[in-house]
Amino acid sequence: MLLLYAFDLKPSEYMFKTTPNLTRIFLSLALGVFFSLSLKAQEIPTDESIIAAGEANFKTNCSTCHKIWEVRIGPALNGVTERRSVEWLIPWIKNSQAMIASGDEQAVALWEEYNQTVMTAYPSFSDDDVLAILAYVKAETAKGPPVAEVAVSTAGGEEGSSVSSSYLMAVIIILVVVLALAVVALIIAARTLVKHLKESKDLSEEDQEIVSQQFDVAGFLKSNSFVGLVVFVFTILVLKTLIDGAFTIGVQQGYQPTQPIAFSHQLHAGQYEIDCQYCHTGVRKSKSANIPSPNICMNCHSQIKNVAGQDGISKEIAKIYAAIDYDPDTQTYGTDTKPIEWVRIHNLPDLAYFNHSQHVKVAEIECQTCHGPIQEMEVVYQYANLTMGWCINCHRETDVNTKGNEYYDKLVKLHSEQSKEPMKVEDIGGLECSKCHY
Ligand code: HEC
Ligand code: HEC
Ligand code: HEC
Ligand code: HEC
Ligand code: HEC
Ligand code: HEC
Repeated sequence: MLLLYAFDLKPSEYMFKTTPNLTRIFLSLALGVFFSLSLKAQEIPTDESIIAAGEANFKTNCSTCHKIWEVRIGPALNGVTERRSVEWLIPWIKNSQAMIASGDEQAVALWEEYNQTVMTAYPSFSDDDVLAILAYVKAETAKGPPVAEVAVSTAGGEEGSSVSSSYLMAVIIILVVVLALAVVALIIAARTLVKHLKESKDLSEEDQEIVSQQFDVAGFLKSNSFVGLVVFVFTILVLKTLIDGAFTIGVQQGYQPTQPIAFSHQLHAGQYEIDCQYCHTGVRKSKSANIPSPNICMNCHSQIKNVAGQDGISKEIAKIYAAIDYDPDTQTYGTDTKPIEWVRIHNLPDLAYFNHSQHVKVAEIECQTCHGPIQEMEVVYQYANLTMGWCINCHRETDVNTKGNEYYDKLVKLHSEQSKEPMKVEDIGGLECSKCHY
């Protein structure tokens, strides 16, 4: 075929003229081969490396709305390569809205089923990009649903910890019982000794007095030493409360203000598993994590106007529309915008410097280590106390994450010549005042 085209179709014209029937047969055969070849190229690959690339692409682009085994904002994708053809899936994933607009039956049915939620378009994807994602989806489908495994492992984990804590409890109880028995035994021994001494005749006058002495409770309460002791304990207690108070000035652990919109992390980050970074866009790149602008909310809420089962527009979601002056009926934006005034929860004083990307990207610390179980919070509260001691403690205890980070190779070598301990943040200067103070 290529040869024929290369000759500017002249030979074929020539052949048409001379042996028309033979040429037609040849041409249709060649076309057949050509088409089946081009269909072959649309088959879903099975290479490990392509699946891995597809997985990465799926996680960055699709996992916000799709899981393999669960319905999220979009359908669960397991088995999608069986229920739909590759020829349908490729244009759908590149631009589902175009397909819906073209009136494709399957596309329109799906669009209605998911309450006309817009799936993001990916015009920059090549066919191979899409095929790689489909390869990943197919491979995951083949593995089967993960549920049972997870349930077993968490149950095992909990049992493990409760066993060890009840073991501890038993040890404590035994210790207390042994101590009590020892005290009783001592008292009995003392009693018999005193009784024995009283009966013996050859005691001096003084010793006799001590042995028969009664404990004078009233006298003791009035004695100087007792009053002194009470005053001492009292002063210590008052001082301790005062000092604690002084150290917690400005510490806002547990601070949980009411926000202008009843935004729930439990729903978005927990139930719908939207990645933290989808909204807090700066967290791996810069010093601050950022609070999302309403545009990010609108990626979903231009379509999701209420919670499932509700009618009309939710009062809370209407507040997003009001802030950006969006009219959901006409789907147009006005000019009367005003910012959503989220109340800031975590706030270090200006004298301290904290950088998210250093902790999240370089050190790979989970958000939850510092912010607690955000994905379970209906309303966010401040989980850690954010004092200087808190930062310093962690820098003393945490090993530097040096894996795959060339920057640290020399430091690690130097450090291991001096010490057998793993390199802590402390060892790279994490306790120097100037690192945290401007
Ligand atoms: C903003 C959310 C969102 C994102 C991001 C998204 N989708 Fe979707 N997807 C949907 C919704 C919603 C549907 C259901 C149809 C509709 O409402 O348009 C859907 C439908 C699909 C379907 C059809 C499923 C079926 O059962 O036939 C496939 C396949 C699909 N998406 C793949 C992808 C892939 C691959 C990506 C990433 C490259 C992706 N989607 C990203 C929301 C999303
Ligand atoms: C859908 C968007 C969205 C997602 C996903 C999301 N957040 Fe948020 N986050 C917000 C908004 C909006 C606020 C401000 C309102 C509030 O405090 O609830 C916020 C506030 C916070 C705050 C408090 C900020 C302050 O004022 O000090 C923390 C901490 C936080 N998010 C952490 C997380 C973590 C960790 C995750 C992932 C587990 C996450 N967020 C996922 C939107 C999101
Ligand atoms: C990736 C998609 C997505 C993004 C981004 C998103 N949401 Fe949502 N939101 C949802 C889904 C899904 C629901 C729950 C709908 C349901 O339960 O049927 C929801 C529900 C809500 C509700 C509950 C409505 C009610 O009446 O109880 C509020 C409020 C809300 N979102 C606010 C926000 C705000 C504010 C932002 C931006 C900071 C945001 N959402 C960003 C997907 C999203
Ligand atoms: C090592 C502890 C630590 C980790 C890990 C951490 N944060 Fe923070 N976060 C802080 C501190 C401290 C502040 C207060 C910063 C300030 O006031 O300058 C903060 C503030 C925030 C804020 C308020 C806005 C801002 O940028 O100051 C958000 C939102 C937030 N974090 C989200 C996240 C998310 C999402 C993650 C995970 C991807 C995360 N954080 C991981 C300690 C941490
Ligand atoms: C959960 C543990 C943890 C907490 C809490 C923590 N850090 Fe860190 N911090 C780290 C780790 C790990 C590194 C090392 C990162 C790297 O490899 O560069 C680090 C590095 C730093 C650095 C850079 C040090 C250097 O020598 O380059 C600064 C500055 C810093 N942290 C400030 C803070 C401040 C301020 C706070 C408290 C508001 C804080 N950190 C709380 C774990 C923590
Ligand atoms: C790992 C980070 C870190 C290092 C290292 C560090 N600080 Fe701080 N420091 C902080 C943070 C965070 C605060 C704010 C804590 C708060 O508001 O309770 C703070 C607060 C302070 C304050 C003000 C206390 C107050 O109540 O306002 C002083 C003074 C101070 N640091 C001195 C120092 C000195 C001196 C050093 C060096 C020996 C040092 N810091 C090293 C993180 C650090």
